[in-house]
Amino acid sequence: MKHTISSLALVTLLLSACGGSKEEDQNAKEDSSNPSQTTNVEPYGKLEDGTEVKIFTFSNKNGMIAKVTEYGAILTSLEVPDKDGNVKDVTHGYDDLAGWLTNTSYFGATVGRYGNRIAGGKFEIDGEVYDQLAINNEPNHLHGGEKGFDKVLWKGEAVEGGVRLTYTSKDGEEGYPGNLQVSVTYTLNDSNELKWVCTATTDKATPVNIVQHAYWNLSGDPATTINDHILTIPAKYFLSTDQNLIPDGNLAEVVNTPFDFNAGSVIGERIEAPSIPLQFGKGYDHCWVVDGEGLRHAATLKDPKTGRTMHLQSDQPGVQFYGGNFLDGTATGKGGVKYAHRTACCLETQAFPDSPNKQDNPAFPNCILKPGETYSHTMVSKFSW
Ligand code: GLA
Repeated sequence: MKHTISSLALVTLLLSACGGSKEEDQNAKEDSSNPSQTTNVEPYGKLEDGTEVKIFTFSNKNGMIAKVTEYGAILTSLEVPDKDGNVKDVTHGYDDLAGWLTNTSYFGATVGRYGNRIAGGKFEIDGEVYDQLAINNEPNHLHGGEKGFDKVLWKGEAVEGGVRLTYTSKDGEEGYPGNLQVSVTYTLNDSNELKWVCTATTDKATPVNIVQHAYWNLSGDPATTINDHILTIPAKYFLSTDQNLIPDGNLAEVVNTPFDFNAGSVIGERIEAPSIPLQFGKGYDHCWVVDGEGLRHAATLKDPKTGRTMHLQSDQPGVQFYGGNFLDGTATGKGGVKYAHRTACCLETQAFPDSPNKQDNPAFPNCILKPGETYSHTMVSKFSW
C-alpha cells in the first residue's frame, strides 16, 4: 500500500514537473469541475427471465460519448472525433441487448474473476486444490469460465461523469472460492480520459484478475484491418508460453524479435515473420511485462489515417495484446458488419496469465486476494486526434 501511494506521488510529481501545454492545463482545470458531465440512464431491454437491464451514456465537451451497460459491465461504444472532426465509434460490439447476449468474443466486457488463462482449469491455495474451473479454452480455463463477469448482470448507478457497477460473485461460482464483492467505475473527463477502475474484496483467499476487454479499431471503420495501426508497448520482456498460450515461467527478451514495440511499429509489419511465439498465438496474443511500477504508460495505439490515438496507462504488471486473430467474420456486429480477421485489437492490462499456478516464481505477480485486502486495478485510456 505504502508502495502504491509513493509511486502515485512520484507520477504526480513527475507530471507536474513536466509541465504540459497551456491547453492541457486548461483541460485539467476544467476537468476538476467537470461542468459537462451528466450521465443519462435508460432502459436497455430485458434478460430472458424478464430482469430489466440499463444502459448509461456519458460524454465530454470535446465530442466523446461513452455507453456502458449493466450486462457484463460492457463498454458498448465509445465515440471519438478524428483529426477532421468526424466522430466515430471505435469499438466492436452489438447494436442492442439481444446482440450482446450472443457475445462470445468478450467485446467491450469486464472479464473475471480471472481474466486470461489458468492451466488445466486448476490451482491450489494454502494446500487446498481447486480443480472445478471450466475448461472452456482446451485444455485450459479462460476469462472466468462459462458464465464469467462478462455474462452476468451488474447493478449500475450514475456517478459524476460516468457509472459505477457492482457485482457479488458467490463462493463457488465458476469454481472459484470466496464471496467476491466487485466494483467497476467508468468515467470520462474533459481531458479525453476514459477511466476504468476496479476494486474487489473477498471473504476467502481467491485468485483475482479483472480485465477490461474492449476491441479497438481507431479508424472508426470496423470493416478495415488494424494491422495498419501503430503500436507502442514500453516493455523489455514478454511472457514465453507453450502452444496453448500458458506461460512457461520465463521472460523472453523482445529485442530483435517481432515483439519489440518499444519504438512504435506498424502491427502488421512483422506479423508473418518466422517466430514460434507468433505461430502459437496465431498472431499476437501475448502478455508483455510493462516496464516500471505504479500507474504508468502501458501502450499507445495510433491509427495514422485518422490521427486517432489511444494512450493507455495502468497499474498492472502486464498488458495482453490480442490482435483479433480469432475474429473470422462469423460475428455480425453493429450495423450488420461481419467482424473479419484482425479488424480490432485488445490491449488488456492485467496480472500475468496463469499466475495462480506460478506463485513460487518471483517473476510473477501475486494474484491471490485474501480477506481484509482490496484488489485494485486502474486503466486509463486517453484519446487524442
Ligand atoms: C484474450 C485471449 C485471446 C482470446 C481473446 C478473446 O485476448 O488471450 O486468446 O481469447 O481474449 O477471444
